[in-house]
Amino acid sequence: MEIPEKYKITTLTHQSTYLVSGELKPWTGETVEVYSTISSTKEYKPTLLGSIPQLGKTEALEALESACLAYGKGQGLWPTMKVVDRIACMETFVEQMKTKRNEVVKLIMWEIGKNLSDSEKEFDRTVDYIYDTIEAYKQIDRDSAKFEKNSGVYAHIRRGPLGVVLCLGPYNYPLNETFTLLIPAILMGNTVIFKPAKLGVLLISPLLEAFQNSFPKGVVNIIYGRGRVLATPIMQTGKIDVLALIGNSTSANALQNNHPKKNRLRLVLGLEAKNPAIVLTDADLDLTIDECIVGTLSFNGQRCTALKILYVHEDIVDEFNTRFSARVDALKFGNPWEEGATLTPLPEPGKPAYIQELIDDAKDKGAKILNKKGGETTHNFIFPTVLYPVSKDMRVYQEEQFGPVIPIVSFSDIQEPLNDMADSNYGQQVSIFGKDINTLSPLIDTLVNLVCRVNLNSSCQRGPDVYPFTGRKDSAFSTLSVHDALRSFSIRTFVASKDNAYNNAILKELLENKTSNFINTDYLL
Ligand code: G3H
Repeated sequence: MEIPEKYKITTLTHQSTYLVSGELKPWTGETVEVYSTISSTKEYKPTLLGSIPQLGKTEALEALESACLAYGKGQGLWPTMKVVDRIACMETFVEQMKTKRNEVVKLIMWEIGKNLSDSEKEFDRTVDYIYDTIEAYKQIDRDSAKFEKNSGVYAHIRRGPLGVVLCLGPYNYPLNETFTLLIPAILMGNTVIFKPAKLGVLLISPLLEAFQNSFPKGVVNIIYGRGRVLATPIMQTGKIDVLALIGNSTSANALQNNHPKKNRLRLVLGLEAKNPAIVLTDADLDLTIDECIVGTLSFNGQRCTALKILYVHEDIVDEFNTRFSARVDALKFGNPWEEGATLTPLPEPGKPAYIQELIDDAKDKGAKILNKKGGETTHNFIFPTVLYPVSKDMRVYQEEQFGPVIPIVSFSDIQEPLNDMADSNYGQQVSIFGKDINTLSPLIDTLVNLVCRVNLNSSCQRGPDVYPFTGRKDSAFSTLSVHDALRSFSIRTFVASKDNAYNNAILKELLENKTSNFINTDYLL
């Protein structure tokens, strides 16, 4: 189908600078080309979108130096600045960001194949997240705009920054998830080094100038290249105070292990998951199937919150399988800007082959493909495949597929999925479908201890962003939400003084003259 004029790639985005010490430094060294798996021509050919610098250790350490200098071991301008002034910088940034919506949305579609409405949602949700974070920070500031007194000691307690943050985001939400780390980290007074994800890199380009001119130099540093090449030497210096990463536990562990003083390293991690759906005999199947379609296949299953395994009670599994498979086959595949395209090209060139491996392995071990279109492959896509019956020895049971393949397991005793979840390495969320409260109650009471969000007759998801987003075991470390993220990137720190006339006079003077950015009881509106 013809690409609409406004979505055609007419100019290439050659990112020829990186942001360090407040400067967009020109890069003349090695670069790599960025391709989309979407074809612009009838005959399939990946589309060239532009190029990015392939920076090395020297530039990585230069960015680290810049962030360290701006933090100034806690004495820098940014960490000691008044909250209201930091908020003003963030407001400047978000205003400029909003003007780049079309450019960023177009690049999200081309770089990662996300459909138009979801790409727009990703942008708008991120803008909302920034405004909500500003409001939440004001509230935190208001709540701490006071003194308390215990056992004869006055205390003025606030949240302060932690230091230098290394921020690494994922390719499936290259804007939103990255910014849910970056924005609270910056706002709380930390300085950051940010390396965009392996895919979804060019979409940061339209925002570089906004980062450059909204914050004091060195507060935000943006570098390009391979994670291992850049992040390893940065971690080895021991100068990183917070590792903020949304990705997988293998890279998170490797990076932590590079840090010479792990006790100094705080972690904010969103990692892999294998969220199950459990469908009970009394589930409303219309609603359950709707939710399972969205849960398993939004963005082709490339979400950490996706439903990645379906447990269906044996009494209803045949009906569920028939109806669910028909619904999967009815989904429309198309390029991201095509009307009604829920399934879109996969951005990783090797993904269809990987999904095929999972399918072949499952078939070898006794599973069948239930849907007619399951496994149909094109250059950049493999049609969602419903596999049944799935057993524990299959790779699709064990691995986080992060793509369009749906394993179904039937159970007769609810203890079977519960035991599987308890034994699993993952613990993010679960969806439970059913109605009888006598069945649901004990289940809920157990499930809340196995994961961190139990979705009742609803698919798993991160939002709304005000709710805590976290996980157990290999699924997460620290909690993210608009409010919790501000906490995760800060520490409580306070000024204390014994209640006596001498100290109280000083405090009074400090408050009246407003000479300290920390000690003040102003109410931020
Ligand atoms: O990839 C994981 C995302 O946090 C999922 O967010 O549930 O809003 O798609 P979402």
